[in-house]
Amino acid sequence: MKERLEALRAEALQELQGVAGPQELGELRVKYLGKKGALTEILRGMGALSAEERPVIGEVANSVRGAIEAVIEEKTAEYRRAETEERLRSETIDVTLPGSGLPTGAVHPLNKVAQEIEDIFIGMGYTIAEGPEVETDYYNFEALNLPKNHPARDMQDSFYITDEILMRTQTSPVQIRAMKAMNGQSPLKIICPGKVYRRDDDDATHSFQFNQVEGLVIGKGIRMSDLKGTLLQFVQEMFGKQARIRLRPSFFPFTEPSAEVDVTCAQCGGSGCRMCKGTGWLEILGCGMVHPKVLEAGGYDPEEVTGFAFGMGIERIALLKYGIDDIRHFYTNDLRFLSQFARM
Ligand code: DAH
Repeated sequence: MKERLEALRAEALQELQGVAGPQELGELRVKYLGKKGALTEILRGMGALSAEERPVIGEVANSVRGAIEAVIEEKTAEYRRAETEERLRSETIDVTLPGSGLPTGAVHPLNKVAQEIEDIFIGMGYTIAEGPEVETDYYNFEALNLPKNHPARDMQDSFYITDEILMRTQTSPVQIRAMKAMNGQSPLKIICPGKVYRRDDDDATHSFQFNQVEGLVIGKGIRMSDLKGTLLQFVQEMFGKQARIRLRPSFFPFTEPSAEVDVTCAQCGGSGCRMCKGTGWLEILGCGMVHPKVLEAGGYDPEEVTGFAFGMGIERIALLKYGIDDIRHFYTNDLRFLSQFARM
C-alpha cells in the first residue's frame, strides 16, 4: 500500500508539473484528491491493515495529500498572479495622452462691452438703474421734453403697442424714473444699460433691437466741464490712454446745450483711414446738460440743481473697439465670430 501511495505521489506530481491551465488544474484536483479520487480509492483499503501498520500508512497518506495540495496551491497562486498581471496590462490608462477637449462657452462680445462700460462708471461712483422695455409714451417722450406733436419723434419710428404704450426707443426714460425715485434728493449718479427698439430695417449699421447705456448725473453745481471730463475718462479707459474726444454742437430735446461726441479713430489713431472716412474721428455718443423741463418732470427744481446726461449705443462702442464692420454679426450667433472673443 505504501508503494501505491508513493507511486500515486510521483504520478500526481509529474502530471501537475505539466498542467496546462486553471481548468485542467481543477480536474487534477478532483482526480487525485476528490471524494472519488485516486487517494480516497487507495485509503479505502486501510480497513484491512493491522493496528501497527495503520498509523504508518496514515502518515504516508497525509504526506502524499499534503504534497499534492501544496503543488495545487502553488499553481493556483501562479495562475492568479498571471491573471492579475494580464488584467493590469490590458487595462493600463496612459495618463499622458491628451484629453478630448470640451467646448466651453464665452461671454458674448456685447455683454462683455456692456460689463466693461458698467465697470468703468461704477469705478467713478455711479450705480446701475434699470427700467422697463415696454414703456409709456409719457416716460419715453413726453417727460423728456418731446410733446406729442414734436418733430423729433419722427427721428425714432417706434413700435407702438397702444396709443400710450410702446417699446422704448431709447434708455432715456430711465432718467425720469430714476429722478422720480429720488424724491428731489441729490446727488444722483446712474447709468442705465438696456435694450431699445426702433422700426428700422436691419442692415450693417441698423437693427430693430439694440442696446444702449444711458448716463445721468444730478447735483448742485454740475457743469458741462464735469460732463467733458467724465466722458474723456470713460473713453480713455475704454479705448486706451491715447484716445481723445471732441464735442460738436447738436440737438436733443432733453438736453440744452446738446453735443455729439467723437473719439479719435482707434484704427488710424486720428490720421484718417477708411473706418473714419478720412476724418480721424468716430462718433460715439450724444450728451448735454439736462433740460430744465426734464429736471422738473423728474421732481427737481432747475434753480437748485443742474445735471448732465449722455447716451451711447453698446453695439457702436463694440464695433469701434474691435473693428467690426457689420452689426448683424452680434445677433446671428456664428461661432466663428463669437469664439474670437473668448480669448480677449
Ligand atoms: N437718447 C438718445 C438717442 O437714443 C441719446 C442721447 C442723447 C441720450 C443725448 C442722452 C443725451 O442722455 O443727453 O439717440
